[in-house]
Amino acid sequence: MAKEKQKIRVVCYGVGAVGSRIAKLLLKKKGIEIVGAIDVAKDKINKDLGEILDLGKKLNITVSDDVDSVMRKACCDVVIHATGSYLKDVYPQIVPIARYGVNVISTCEELSYPYLSEPELAKKLEALGVKYAMSFLGTGINPGFLMDTLVITLTGVCQKISKIKVERVMNAATRRIQFQKKVGAGLTTTEFKKKMDTKQITGHVGLEQSIAMIAAALKWQLDKIEVDLVEPVIAENEVRSEAIIVRKGQVAGLKQTARGMIQRKDAITLDFQAYIGAKDEYDAIPIDGVPPIHQQISPCVHGDHAPVAIIINSIPKVMNAPPGLLTMKDLPVPSAAIEDMRKYV
Ligand SMILES: NC(=O)c1ccc[n+]([C@@H]2O[C@H](COP(=O)([O-])OP(=O)(O)OC[C@H]3O[C@@H](n4cnc5c(N)ncnc54)[C@H](OP(=O)(O)O)[C@@H]3O)[C@@H](O)[C@H]2O)c1
Repeated sequence: MAKEKQKIRVVCYGVGAVGSRIAKLLLKKKGIEIVGAIDVAKDKINKDLGEILDLGKKLNITVSDDVDSVMRKACCDVVIHATGSYLKDVYPQIVPIARYGVNVISTCEELSYPYLSEPELAKKLEALGVKYAMSFLGTGINPGFLMDTLVITLTGVCQKISKIKVERVMNAATRRIQFQKKVGAGLTTTEFKKKMDTKQITGHVGLEQSIAMIAAALKWQLDKIEVDLVEPVIAENEVRSEAIIVRKGQVAGLKQTARGMIQRKDAITLDFQAYIGAKDEYDAIPIDGVPPIHQQISPCVHGDHAPVAIIINSIPKVMNAPPGLLTMKDLPVPSAAIEDMRKYV
């Protein structure tokens, strides 16, 4: 009788809001197991992962801040990394994993297309991946799918394209509380500005990366990528989520636009809006081309569930991919891995 394939072994690096959701979904899946957990948060270190995930039972996996000790013991296939948005911060966290020959899939927004903001680090990641026969991938819902991979896929049926626009409008009330705070819901405009100045509110990270990834797929040479200042969306009436009441005149959330320009014209425009009380929630991708495309997803894809799914669905794609630095445009068409995970590898 054929020997059963070993389960895919995963270490969860960063078990905050998103990392915890990823861990919970991993626990429900067949053919895959969590074999280690890393985090630096004082309220998580040395606790059992089951407690951090609020499972009401132990998993016998202790959350540690000692990356090497976890990696030595774990003998894993993949590290799922979810700690931060900026590659300069995340780079020193993911580099030590390379020498264990273990793939890294991260929610780090800048890692989704690192050639733009951090070309030197991108080169080093590519070299490390090849040297140690492992891969790095940055992915998520956005960047990672909605405003780039999905757009690139839609262009596959076009003969000509003159302009691409992507709009994502979401009602922040349906999102996790951390996200509602992240978009400034419930602040006065003065508080919002102060938090912007101190970078406690950054707006959406990744619009430039999505534009650059689309342009790279189409081989469009952009003259520049412009990102407008993040603007608050002001509530015209009182609106609320379960956790936050936004009074008339207060900030309900934020909006942000970025453009990839060719000869002073907008070639790729991304428009991101997230605020409590948005009535019409959608992801729209109008493409001016032959044929024209009018893709609309209503309501918009849920930003808390989808990143968890795409990170896990990417595990077999990354394990099957050649080593080095990967982006979503280099991997096969995204698809759900809903059966026993071993079937996809
Ligand atoms: N691409 C996408 O679509 C997408 C989607 C969702 C999230 N993201 C990004 O994913 C990242 C994680 O999101 P989140 O909401 O889960 O954040 P979070 O709730 O703040 O969780 C991050 C966790 O990682 C820990 N951490 C920070 N630095 C660390 C380090 N050097 N080593 C180990 N652990 C470390 C944090 O500890 P402390 O609390 O002590 O810092 C925290 O426990 C964010 O940057 C977010 O923007 C991207």
